[in-house]
Amino acid sequence: MAAGSAAGALLLSIWVLQLDLSSCQSLPRFGYVGGNVTLSPASTVSFTEITWKKGINKIIDWSGNKEPTHYPVPNDRVHLDIKSGDLVLFNLTSSDEDEYEIESVDLTHGQKFNLTVLDPLPSPTLGCYWVNESISVHCEVPQSYRRHRDLLRCTWNCSSQQCENSSQLMALVANSPPELRFTKDDDLSQEVHCFVKDPVSSRTSSKVLSTCVPADNPRHRYLLIAITFVGIFFLIGFLCYARRAEKTTAR
Ligand SMILES: *[C@@H]1O[C@H](CO)[C@@H](O)[C@H](O)[C@H]1NC(C)=O
Ligand SMILES: *[C@@H]1O[C@H](CO)[C@@H](O)[C@H](O)[C@H]1NC(C)=O
Ligand SMILES: *[C@@H]1O[C@H](CO)[C@@H](O)[C@H](O)[C@H]1NC(C)=O
Ligand SMILES: *[C@@H]1O[C@H](CO)[C@@H](O)[C@H](O)[C@H]1NC(C)=O
Ligand SMILES: *[C@@H]1O[C@H](CO)[C@@H](O)[C@H](O)[C@H]1NC(C)=O
Ligand SMILES: *[C@@H]1O[C@H](CO)[C@@H](O)[C@H](O)[C@H]1NC(C)=O
Repeated sequence: MAAGSAAGALLLSIWVLQLDLSSCQSLPRFGYVGGNVTLSPASTVSFTEITWKKGINKIIDWSGNKEPTHYPVPNDRVHLDIKSGDLVLFNLTSSDEDEYEIESVDLTHGQKFNLTVLDPLPSPTLGCYWVNESISVHCEVPQSYRRHRDLLRCTWNCSSQQCENSSQLMALVANSPPELRFTKDDDLSQEVHCFVKDPVSSRTSSKVLSTCVPADNPRHRYLLIAITFVGIFFLIGFLCYARRAEKTTAR
């Protein structure tokens, strides 16, 4: 009987411990440099006191009817909503990237947020090359997007079969940008779209395939005509000379 209740208590404490561990998990949150982000405990309690920590350091503290205290110095980039408990970070910088935690006697347990700060996503650039009578289209995200490039995903859209496979999002690998190949026999009037997305936003760029095919170079054509004319001129000259020489020998 005693052993049974001891085992029960043990099970209960393990269960409570597990519950506690799961509540310790850090919720992923994303923002971009220069943007704003709100970390929200999503709780309906009315708070009497709140502490927010960044990593192990306290950054804001509030209790009772005082004004919230900022650490280490007053900071207008950080705002605490004492009603909802929300922490709002304005004009994000890369150094804001960290783990944040709200603590309050009014919450049954603290809550953690893992903030990742991305670069603002630029539009991708589509380049195309005419190689071996075929068109190779590349999609690249400018290098101004430096932070967390591994979180980028991209996909193609076009009316050709080449795009059919790319319904799923691909990771953007640095040394082999996504590429599509077309031949002269494909529909060159179609527009090819490249979509890129990160956890905050998405961008797209497009290109009409026919603009990738080099136009006949008019300078070459003029040169060819000029060479033909010079050739004919010399031929006539030669024929005249040959005939005169013939007459001379005949005499
Ligand atoms: C961030 O919040 C401030 C204040 O609400 C606002 O003026 C600003 O436009 C916001 N910035 C962005 C990038 O949303
Ligand atoms: C945002 O921060 C940058 C650099 O930290 C600063 O140059 C800029 O003026 C700030 N913008 C706003 C709206 O506070
Ligand atoms: C926070 O998020 C980043 C990027 O998603 C990830 O690499 C990192 O492991 C996360 N850290 C924690 C403590 O969850
Ligand atoms: C062009 O095709 C030839 C023969 O098919 C091949 O040897 C060459 O590597 C190709 N060039 C490029 C740039 O793909
Ligand atoms: C791809 O393009 C087709 C039309 O060309 C459009 O109907 C479809 O919604 C596009 N797909 C995406 C994911 O944008
Ligand atoms: C599409 O993907 C399948 C398998 O992943 C592959 O066998 C097929 O050749 C691909 N088709 C095109 C048009 O790339």
